[in-house]
Amino acid sequence: MSVNILGIETSCDETAAGVVADGRVLMSNVISSQIDLHAKYGGVVPELASRQHVRDLIPVLEQAATDADLSLEDMDAIAVTYGPGLAGSLITGVNAAKAISYSLGIPLIGVNHLEGHIYASWLTKTELEKDPGFPLACLVASGGHTDLLLMEGHGKYKLVGRTRDDAAGEAFDKAARILGLGFPGGPEIQRVSAGANGEEDLPRAWMKGTLDFSFSGIKTALLHIAQDRGLYPSPENGVDTERLIRELAAAFQESVVDVLSAKLIEMASKYKANGLVLGGGVTANARLRKEITKRSHLPVIIPPPILCTDNGAMIAACGYFQYERGDQTPMNIDVNPGLPLG
Ligand code: KG4
Ligand code: ZN
Repeated sequence: MSVNILGIETSCDETAAGVVADGRVLMSNVISSQIDLHAKYGGVVPELASRQHVRDLIPVLEQAATDADLSLEDMDAIAVTYGPGLAGSLITGVNAAKAISYSLGIPLIGVNHLEGHIYASWLTKTELEKDPGFPLACLVASGGHTDLLLMEGHGKYKLVGRTRDDAAGEAFDKAARILGLGFPGGPEIQRVSAGANGEEDLPRAWMKGTLDFSFSGIKTALLHIAQDRGLYPSPENGVDTERLIRELAAAFQESVVDVLSAKLIEMASKYKANGLVLGGGVTANARLRKEITKRSHLPVIIPPPILCTDNGAMIAACGYFQYERGDQTPMNIDVNPGLPLG
């Protein structure tokens, strides 16, 4: 009999639930995105996000069970993100998980969202099946975090590098805003960059001698160029906006991809890792995936893009390994918006 874990994710603007069997078999993955709700504000509005979770969570949970061809009674445990994230959003998921745990008499498992992003790789039937073994060099790059974590075993992490200012995803979102593109910025920058000719270049912040990142300088460099060329705050007459947006977006993407790839590979070599693991929304980026795979001589494990951005299946996968260790969460657990990892 397999162990079925139901995972709930409501840390930001996706109401998501997924079912995973034995920590590796993806049974269902239902994501209700709030992008349309927040797009007109150019970013996530926390109050609106929590209220939308309240509306969507039960239908999403029911769908996750239906898609897995199971009922809630078939679940062995309920895993839920309890941090980091927006407090009001996290509360909706945690309270629903407590209610399910209580009513079905199954364990409650609180999961760290960042650890969930790492465990999305356990749902990836590629390099991990060859089992490179620990330690693994992990890059978690999302809207709120850009962390390099050495994973020494299940649930064992050492934080060895992080951003000192903006997260990579936040930088993508801000760069997209400067270029007049939509929200979220990452997919938009990737889309318009596709036809670029490499005519522009932007600096890299190497933060030499550390494994830390900095992305706010490159965003400012982009802003100054956009102003100088008459693109920002609104395009001036005679400016070839289409070319400039495409080339600057590509230059921005190259700069971020270059630094993320180089630092992850440097970290893997420094800590003698056996493989690389990518997770978080930014690792859905096609250029980043290609570049890291090209540069690394170690196995690179990257979940499909739909499992890189926020989802419930990754929380279920992570929850399985906690369940197996007997790592249950008490019913009086609170959310932790600043929950660290490593
Ligand atoms: O992990 P995630 O879905 O949510 C958080 O935990 O924050 O990450 C969202 C971030 C956003 O900043 C978004 O712009 C970025 O991931 N993102 C991307 C791509 N898809 C999403 N960044 C670059 N390229 C992409 N294709
Ligand atoms: Zn995330």
